[in-house]
Amino acid sequence: MTVADRLRGKVIIITGSARGIGRAYAERCAAEGARLVVADVIPTQAAVDAITKAGGEAIGVACDVSRAASVEAMAGAARQAFGGIDVLVNNAAMFATIRFGKLQDLDEQEWDRVMAINVKGPWLCVKAVLPAMIEGGGGKIINIASSTVYTGVPNFLHYVTSKGAIVAMTRAMARELGRHNITVNAIAPGYTMSTGTEHNPEKVNENTIRSRALRRTQYPEDLVGTLAHLASDDANFITGQVISVDGGEGMH
Ligand SMILES: NC(=O)c1ccc[n+]([C@@H]2O[C@H](COP(=O)([O-])OP(=O)(O)OC[C@H]3O[C@@H](n4cnc5c(N)ncnc54)[C@H](O)[C@@H]3O)[C@@H](O)[C@H]2O)c1
Repeated sequence: MTVADRLRGKVIIITGSARGIGRAYAERCAAEGARLVVADVIPTQAAVDAITKAGGEAIGVACDVSRAASVEAMAGAARQAFGGIDVLVNNAAMFATIRFGKLQDLDEQEWDRVMAINVKGPWLCVKAVLPAMIEGGGGKIINIASSTVYTGVPNFLHYVTSKGAIVAMTRAMARELGRHNITVNAIAPGYTMSTGTEHNPEKVNENTIRSRALRRTQYPEDLVGTLAHLASDDANFITGQVISVDGGEGMH
């Protein structure tokens, strides 16, 4: 087996993979031989078509990660299409549409929605895939955190808090699920140019670049190799870890 096909045959669900960084994860995993479930609240057809056109295998599933019934249906569709579930990537999040604001000005409903999608969503998704992973003898869960947890970005409290919960959840889940041969890790991306950030002022990116050891813009392609590694058998003995992929902005 070469690096290029280290995910051969693995069934990987990636939430929020119709666009942005999630789509880049999906395309890379498919290129390494995985069978993909592209799950999103927005239409998934374009992402699925891109994967199949490149010779990969994928299905699209409409799913709102904040709703238990929707998430269970998504796991059911994955099992029906591919027989099992090897890897879950909890990438979906409320991010691009969140409004910046001082903590005393944040909208309570928006706070609740961020928590429902970014925190409850990953838990619901793990719950839904667990029976298939246990039946299959193990699995891998990869949660997507954020460098904002370590840098404490101001005026974004609900989002930063939700991603802090992802770090805590990753550790507690790893302890709880290790007995089932299920690993749980997280990636903490730095500020990344994607569909979620392309409308932000260039100044935000310029300031971030100055805070990095590697002084350049981060792209989704900078993240996909780490994701593929954590999804592969090369990472069988890594669990409960948060890997920062941020050009050396944070070091901890
Ligand atoms: N772009 C960055 O700078 C950056 C930095 C650190 C972490 N992240 C994290 O990386 C991940 C991807 O970010 P992105 O920049 O591609 O953002 P994005 O907003 O472009 O993508 C998020 C995806 O999640 C989907 N989604 C939103 N709500 C959903 C729901 N309820 N159910 C299912 N899917 C839903 C969206 O439709 C979209 O496809 C997110 O978890 C984000 O928090 C991004």
